[in-house]
Amino acid sequence: MQKISIRNLSEHIGEEITLQGWLFNKRSSGKIKFLILRDGTGYLQCVYFKGSVSEEVFELADRIGQESSITVRGKVKVEPRAPGGYELDATVLTVISEAHDYPITPKEHGIEFLMDHRHLWLRSTKQAAIMRIRHRLIKAIRDFFDNNGFTLMDPPILTPAACEGTSTLFETEYFDLGKAYLTQSGQLYAEAGAMALGKVYTFGPTFRAEKSKTRRHLTEFWMVEPEVAFANLNDDMDLAEEFLEYIVQTVLKEREEELKVLERDTTLLQNVKRPLPRITYKEAVEILRKNDIDFQYGNDFGGTDETIISNQFDRPVMVHRYPAEVKAFYMKRDPENEKLALAVDVLAPEGYGEIIGGSQREDDYNTLLKRIEEHNLPREAFEWYLDLRKYGSVPHAGFGLGLERTVGWICGLDHVRETIPFPRMIYRNTP
Ligand code: 4AD
Ligand code: MG
Repeated sequence: MQKISIRNLSEHIGEEITLQGWLFNKRSSGKIKFLILRDGTGYLQCVYFKGSVSEEVFELADRIGQESSITVRGKVKVEPRAPGGYELDATVLTVISEAHDYPITPKEHGIEFLMDHRHLWLRSTKQAAIMRIRHRLIKAIRDFFDNNGFTLMDPPILTPAACEGTSTLFETEYFDLGKAYLTQSGQLYAEAGAMALGKVYTFGPTFRAEKSKTRRHLTEFWMVEPEVAFANLNDDMDLAEEFLEYIVQTVLKEREEELKVLERDTTLLQNVKRPLPRITYKEAVEILRKNDIDFQYGNDFGGTDETIISNQFDRPVMVHRYPAEVKAFYMKRDPENEKLALAVDVLAPEGYGEIIGGSQREDDYNTLLKRIEEHNLPREAFEWYLDLRKYGSVPHAGFGLGLERTVGWICGLDHVRETIPFPRMIYRNTP
């Protein structure tokens, strides 16, 4: 049986059709009941006239509560004043499951209440629009890499060691083998993949036991990480800007309707086109000082610092060559200045901050071994990683883009908790 959905109503004007969905809202006007049906693809006003339907149907239309699941039948009419532009001249109404006292009503609710009811909140117009944008963004990300010669390679989630510092590890007992950790990043495995396949990307959930309670931090988030053999920091930045342009422009084009639902002003997003500005960490520090921030050279940027830096530009800015101390052990040092890491962060405008972190990797065996020791990382767990520098080591680079921060930025949201179906944060692991 071919099911008709609200999205495809334009193909059925004047026809008698059956639709299934949920009661989104209803109102009455004397002898008329207006039921707004929601089917996941759109909204449709279904009109029941007292005179033209049975007593039973009219009484049912009056009785059922918000989010009751229903089947409706009627004739499709063009009605420019109705949401979506169509209306159903309805005759039949059957109830699949009658609901009453749905907790999320059209009135305002507090954020904690909504987060507690996330399983239901996802049904609301805005949340559904965000999920559709997230989905389209994921597809754009995959399309970009798939069409540019990258192979998707899935890294393990359970890992024997840290990748991004030991302070944010989730650990668990792993049978007789001691501790295992939830992965913070697929990068180290992507490096093995790049040596095997040239260009790879990983895309999956990553975990950070973040103690920070900010609007940018989740404890479980999705990251996409390309890794390229025979590439340096410049190549990495070239890739990052081409990638960002593609994914943002694709979502703007393909999810225009949803962005309108979110009332997103897309002016600055339209600017996400190559070339993106590139500045050094040192230049970024000068920007902060010019803006009267008493910033200590050598520190990492905080959220407010990133906002001030990115506000100087009309599109995302790439900040490169950070002091090595604030960056990860695997980053290659700048041959021109050993104190600097060949790292890049991409900062999104409008206060969204870091969405991409990347670098050229240390490719020399002895230097990498020294870094592992300096960071007090367990050498045994990194023997395989060191092997990559023993057998045909080459310059290579990559980056990681945080999916939720990117969704938050594109959608113009003020917290990442709305960008993932069921967010995990320091103070929330339900529903
Ligand atoms: O800068 P990060 O820590 O870089 C890495 O993990 C590298 N291994 C990536 C690579 O070179 N392959 O994280 C990359 C991105 C950040 O820019 C941010 O967008 C996102 O991941 N991210 C988070 N998103 C939400 N919640 C958190 N707690 C996040 N931590 C990082
Ligand atoms: Mg980072």
